[in-house]
Amino acid sequence: MCGIVGMVSSNQFSTLDVIAALKRLEYRGYDSVGIATSDGWVSKDVGEIDKFMDILEDRSANLAISHTRWATHGRVTKENAHPHASNDGSIIVVHNGIIENFEQMRAALRSKGYSFISQTDTEIIANYLEDKLRSGMGMQKAIRSFMKDAEGTFAILIIIKGEDTLYAAKRDSPLVLGILGDGFVLASDIYAFSDKTSKSIFFDDNEYAVITPRSYTFYVDSKEIEKQITEVQWTGISEKDEKYEHYMIKEIHEQPVAARRLIESMDTTQRSKMDLLARLCRQCKRVLFVAAGTSYHASLAGVYMFNSIGIEAHTLIASEFQNFMLVNEDALVIAISQSGETMDVVKAIKYAKDKGSKIVSIVNVPYSTVQRLSEVSVEILAGQEICVASTKTYTNQVLILICLANLLGFRTDIKSIPEMIGSTIESSEEKVMELSRSMSDTRDIYVIGRGISYPLSREVALKLKEISYIHAEGMMGGELKHGTIALIEEGTIVFSFIPNTDYEMLSNTQEVAARGAHVIMISDNPEFEPTFLLPPSVPGSFSVTATIIGQLFAYYIAKEKGLPIDKPRNLAKSVTVK
Ligand code: F6R
Repeated sequence: MCGIVGMVSSNQFSTLDVIAALKRLEYRGYDSVGIATSDGWVSKDVGEIDKFMDILEDRSANLAISHTRWATHGRVTKENAHPHASNDGSIIVVHNGIIENFEQMRAALRSKGYSFISQTDTEIIANYLEDKLRSGMGMQKAIRSFMKDAEGTFAILIIIKGEDTLYAAKRDSPLVLGILGDGFVLASDIYAFSDKTSKSIFFDDNEYAVITPRSYTFYVDSKEIEKQITEVQWTGISEKDEKYEHYMIKEIHEQPVAARRLIESMDTTQRSKMDLLARLCRQCKRVLFVAAGTSYHASLAGVYMFNSIGIEAHTLIASEFQNFMLVNEDALVIAISQSGETMDVVKAIKYAKDKGSKIVSIVNVPYSTVQRLSEVSVEILAGQEICVASTKTYTNQVLILICLANLLGFRTDIKSIPEMIGSTIESSEEKVMELSRSMSDTRDIYVIGRGISYPLSREVALKLKEISYIHAEGMMGGELKHGTIALIEEGTIVFSFIPNTDYEMLSNTQEVAARGAHVIMISDNPEFEPTFLLPPSVPGSFSVTATIIGQLFAYYIAKEKGLPIDKPRNLAKSVTVK
């Protein structure tokens, strides 16, 4: 989490330009924002970037660093906002990541007389560097010393007050350099400079760079290294569409088009990658998916389909992958990630690589870390997703898994799905809107599914939690009677997802209805007289169409409640801390 942007140029630029670039990274966190220029001027505040822009001084500079924060250490206060300066103000730093041994480092600096005004781990970096420089070390040596002493993850930008050189260092957290005509831009990801340049250099772990207005040099330890320039192909940049009040509803509506584009690519531009992936699935002893949040729910649908055709598949939440999964050279690890930067996923695949597994991935953001760590990576092609909550990327993740399963023996008509998505949105949106009006005071919702509809029940519950702020549990329908049914009272809302002739799921639904639950049934079987009748499914399609009803409910309930739909509290789109 957290987004960082630095600019260094032989021509003067405005602080407003830097913050405009930072705004493109706001999905990484929006607790506070700040900027510093090389003359030592620092401005920062809590809240979102738009609010900050209203008070930001339009200053000219040749070098600036900026930061948008997702709080890890210390509350959301102005003191804890980045940039952070060292005690004498000579070193100014922005940081994405977590310095795990910061308490020990801070204690060591305190014993030397340094004081701290924030609760952040970042402030120690500035003071550590000041201390080393005071002792006579040069900045490069000081950075190397920091990289040796610091445990944890970091992408850091550093300026020395009064100098025109920008220093940058990276371990685990993402960092990329963009090459401009008259200078350079450094950022957490390429989207920050998509309007400026396509020439990029990605930092690898444990590298640092020294950047002046006219040159850049990369190092590992004290050794200068050659870096490859990547010519980025920009695809799917998303712009605001006045027709939609929020990105979330825009992105829900984009799903038929995004699905069609993806399915076509899997027959054409991505065909060879899909074939290779299928071959690797056949050759390995077992497939291990690894993912987090919504992407994990997509992977659960993959497990369901793969096992149904005799391919042994498992999935585990990325943060627990090393604790609960047997990983070795017999396994093919398929990482699924919208951002391609989720730290838990990155850590899990590095671990699996060390254990000898082959790593492949399904990723939305091109050139992301997960993609670059993979032997082969299929692109989700959903286009840029701006709303913090995933919608269209979930749908396309599931479609890739359906297509892959098809290549391995699953039989379905994937090409019919985009039209089903369109007709689901069209036929249900008004009704969802109407039902949502009476749900703004709802405290709890239970979401139940079975088989193919279990993963989506988890996904719908997640959407209700993060967007509508309703406590929701996505559960296996059959498991409900083993305890949770005790919570069902007169009027408790239960979303029940019943694909085709799943009579067992129907029984589970009747069990809660008999105890007074207010059931909202979603099914493609008219015989069940569902609240929402979906278009007749083909194998796998229910995972997508039924989820869309949940996405719409999450959106319209949140709208009814007046919540910040695209940027829900406490969240960030790219979770780059463990
Ligand atoms: C929920 C959501 C998150 C992400 C999760 C993983 O709507 O978006 O749960 O799915 O943080 O992110 P990626 O897919 O980028 O690895």
